Amino acid sequence: MPIPYSNKVIDHFLKPHNAGSMKDPDAVATEGSPACGDMVKLYLKVNPETKVIDDIKFESYGCASNIATASIITDIAKGKTIEEAKKVTWKSADKELGGLPPVKVHCAVLAVDSLHAAIDNYEQSHGLVKDPKPTTKEIVISRLKHVINPLTGFNIVKANMIDDVKVENGTVTVYTKLASDHQFAANIKEEIIERIEPLWDVKKVEVKFDG
Ligand code: FES
Repeated sequence: MPIPYSNKVIDHFLKPHNAGSMKDPDAVATEGSPACGDMVKLYLKVNPETKVIDDIKFESYGCASNIATASIITDIAKGKTIEEAKKVTWKSADKELGGLPPVKVHCAVLAVDSLHAAIDNYEQSHGLVKDPKPTTKEIVISRLKHVINPLTGFNIVKANMIDDVKVENGTVTVYTKLASDHQFAANIKEEIIERIEPLWDVKKVEVKFDG
């Protein structure tokens, strides 16, 4: 039996709004779902004076519900300030879409998490975090828990792919247990850098491979 989607979900899935990548974004975030291993990447262009989201794009490697949610939340967030966009929740997206099947809620959560993560990255990298805390090994590891190994769908911390993390004078070094010729080494490195580099006091991120 097919999953009962609303007409609005089907419309946004078949003709997604704001789909695609963006050149020179002000912030970007990739989120992976622990429930299904799918991923979504979201790009932001923000007016530096007004903090209004001038442009927003997404690339989804998820299912119809994820694509429809990313489509509708990017519509909602475009033209809003980053403070207003922070208030977008999976429940508001779900309501706008006319309701997702309960089994597909995690797909909406994934899309909304990518919006919140991109806003957080924007604030980190543009000096907008109130009372910023110095980056520690624990902070880095908590961010690495959002980087998914595409082979297993587990995050790289849970998958025991991280050997150590060092934070010294603005340089973060992530020692992985991955061989440099691992099938997804380049993707994982890119996502580690994308996650850690925006932190307000980080100047450089190095990713080391195990051979
Ligand atoms: Fe993975 Fe929907 S099943 S995003």
